[in-house]
Amino acid sequence: MRNYPEDIAGVGDERLVGRTALVTGSTSGIGKEAALSLGRLGAHVIVHGRDGEAGSAVVDEIEAGVNEGTAEFVAADFAELEEVSALADATRHAAGDDGLDLLLNNAGGYFRDARLTDLGVEYTFHVNHLAPYQLTAELLDDLTDDARVVTTSSEAHRGDRIDLDAVESVDDFSSWGAYQRSKLANAQFAAELARRLRASDREVTSNSFHPGAIPGSGFLRDLPGPLSRVARALGRLPFATTPAEGAATAVYLAVADDVADATGRYFADCREKKPSTEAQDPRAQRRLWERSAELLGIDEPLAALAADEI
Ligand SMILES: NC(=O)c1ccc[n+]([C@@H]2O[C@H](COP(=O)([O-])OP(=O)(O)OC[C@H]3O[C@@H](n4cnc5c(N)ncnc54)[C@H](OP(=O)(O)O)[C@@H]3O)[C@@H](O)[C@H]2O)c1
Repeated sequence: MRNYPEDIAGVGDERLVGRTALVTGSTSGIGKEAALSLGRLGAHVIVHGRDGEAGSAVVDEIEAGVNEGTAEFVAADFAELEEVSALADATRHAAGDDGLDLLLNNAGGYFRDARLTDLGVEYTFHVNHLAPYQLTAELLDDLTDDARVVTTSSEAHRGDRIDLDAVESVDDFSSWGAYQRSKLANAQFAAELARRLRASDREVTSNSFHPGAIPGSGFLRDLPGPLSRVARALGRLPFATTPAEGAATAVYLAVADDVADATGRYFADCREKKPSTEAQDPRAQRRLWERSAELLGIDEPLAALAADEI
């Protein structure tokens, strides 16, 4: 029996021919399953990651499908500002005059080591949050009128508030704390983006979701050797959530009619779920938005239009 994300999400009969989707972090895990799913539904999928060989394999699998789905791979390291910009340029080129219909901000991971990127920002915060913020900002004008932006957060977001003064330091670094902070940022980013889009009278939607706990993805690859092998073994157990099951909520939010107007919300298991109080705090969302632009050295995206809304 098929256990594809589109079937789990109840959208297996939808057709996305003529639509363009960018799925970041689709060389592996949840993103790969989401990209394959959108390809099966007929979309043109931009597959992204750093691993060119894995990316080509996903492209080949989409193009070998029986439906009209097509794909191309674009490599970009999310710790590098220029590479994120190059991904935005390549996406713009691929989407052409019709524009980008689906932006799945999924790339990210759990990173064990304390380090700063060249921008001087803690690595996990940069890769998991700042990079998708930058990418989305650069693609805002290329989104179609009814485009959907879907951001992969996690239940791990239920931690502390974000200390925005601490993101440029790795003093007292905790890999779990850094991961939690980045996933809270994903949920706050998605909600703030939704508010600012609404304020600018755009019908583009923005939601975030928790994919489930999926030991069989590449997610825990950065753990020390034996722990990483344990995680992979757990992923093979029959009751473990699979990457395809993890991708179902992403595909649901990207495709399903019943969430066509849903925006600024958080989901799990293809259902709306209440995120943490901090994730819903409009002041925290706004501070994150403003600070992210400051860290990247860019003008605040959708700035003027948000002023009377908040
Ligand atoms: N697995 C879970 O239990 C779980 C639970 C909750 C949330 N999530 C979230 O789900 C998302 C996908 O994770 P996954 O579980 O599918 O893990 P995964 O199999 O490791 O996939 C991660 C993807 O992100 C890309 N990526 C990682 N670092 C990158 C960087 N510096 N620059 C560009 N791309 C990068 C990887 O591409 P390359 O390897 O080609 O660079 C890969 O395609 C993440 O946002 C994660 O936080 C996962």
